[in-house]
Amino acid sequence: MTDLEPPKPRPSWIAGIAEPGVTELVVRHPFDGSEVATVGVPGPEQVERAVAAAAAVFTEFRSSPAHLRANALAHVSQRLAERTEEIAEIITAENGKPLKWAVGEVGRAVHTFRLAAEEARRFTGELTRLDTDPAAEGRVAMIKRIPRGPVLGISPFNFPLNLVAHKVAPALAVGAPIIIKPAPRTPLTALILGEILAETDLPAGAFSVLPVGNEATAALVKDERLPVVSFTGSGPVGFSIMDSAPRKHVVLELGGNAAAVVCGDWSSEPDLDFAAKRIALFSNYQAGQSCIAVQRVLVDRSVYEDFLPRLVGAVGALRTGSPHDPDVEVGPLVDVAAAERVEQWISEAAEAGAKILAGGTRDGSTVAPTVLTEVPKDAKVWCEEVFGPVLAVAAVDGVDEAFAEVNNSAYGLQAGVFTHDIQTAFRAGTELEVGGVIIGDVPSYRADQLPYGGVKGSGVGREGVRTTMTDFTEERVVVLTGVSW
Ligand code: SIN
Repeated sequence: MTDLEPPKPRPSWIAGIAEPGVTELVVRHPFDGSEVATVGVPGPEQVERAVAAAAAVFTEFRSSPAHLRANALAHVSQRLAERTEEIAEIITAENGKPLKWAVGEVGRAVHTFRLAAEEARRFTGELTRLDTDPAAEGRVAMIKRIPRGPVLGISPFNFPLNLVAHKVAPALAVGAPIIIKPAPRTPLTALILGEILAETDLPAGAFSVLPVGNEATAALVKDERLPVVSFTGSGPVGFSIMDSAPRKHVVLELGGNAAAVVCGDWSSEPDLDFAAKRIALFSNYQAGQSCIAVQRVLVDRSVYEDFLPRLVGAVGALRTGSPHDPDVEVGPLVDVAAAERVEQWISEAAEAGAKILAGGTRDGSTVAPTVLTEVPKDAKVWCEEVFGPVLAVAAVDGVDEAFAEVNNSAYGLQAGVFTHDIQTAFRAGTELEVGGVIIGDVPSYRADQLPYGGVKGSGVGREGVRTTMTDFTEERVVVLTGVSW
């Protein structure tokens, strides 16, 4: 599937040094199962060295000058930009997302590292007077943020570069060493990031990339030398991590069944066409394998009949096929098992009374973009996270019912509301139980400088470069006595 001739097997990064592993992991192309590369899996002794080095360098690294960290991050940003084409090919080969989306992901990671480089220079403390209390005359306090400790970052397959960047860049920006455990299906991009990080002046131990399996990961989660765990992935795994390390600082970015609401005032032809095209595209980008891909669509009954054929037409116009073909919008799911699960969920919904207006079929690891209506609210395609190219559409009577339906979910990551009405927009921002609301567009919009995360089953805490820098650090107060303001 790819012209690349990767060296075999790829080394992992142990405390900043490339080392062969003790066993091998084969990375396969999601589209046809062909072998893309093999990766060396580090053994227990190598994992121990990585953790020990992160712990050993912590004191030195947290006190390192901001310019050193900022320059390293700026270097990574620049090198990612220079290597965009090559890295995008690798993302597509290991993840299966269409090449144009892979190029977009590299662009986002360039931005994520650049933001972190800028924020590393800005991240500072506060000086405050204490003579507001007569007993504290002659006292002044400095409030600064100190890294909580080395970070364990566990990243998912759906954005093999930028969701790694969202853990690595803020950690390094604040001077926290980080160990990355990439998803087993997509370790290659994280290993390239390791290669680029190794070009910088970061001290040994500031980063490691360990493509290890479940057992080693569970041990890392419990290791007290890694007091921060940042996880992106499925709910069951995320909450089990939190339960197994109750004294750690754990950030969980989990899934969702994101809703788009089309309000009654969004009724002109251009409005309805725009919403249909955006919803079609963003339920199917990355074959629906984004936590904020549109899954549920709630359409005001007054525009439903006009909107539905436009949506079905827009979904039907999306081309499936090889993700290396520039005309393809919808590539494979990450593997055949994932596609079979999605197919099964569609069948279950159809057996329970749902109507299939588009798609509903599977070819290997590819599921045809699917539109369902009359979906029972307890069908998995409605109430669980599909993580596939499936839309479930329902008519609602007014904004109250639409918002109640958005909130009638075990998840709460992001929601999109197509409305021109400022009152409805403000209500959405207050009443929808989610981490982010997008007005006039799909829920799938994310800017990398914004806080990002969810409520309920969608997770705990927020990412976003500056937000994560704050989250990976804690306040330290230093009181100075015998001084005047
Ligand atoms: C996710 O799937 O949660 C990440 C979405 C994004 O970064 O765009």
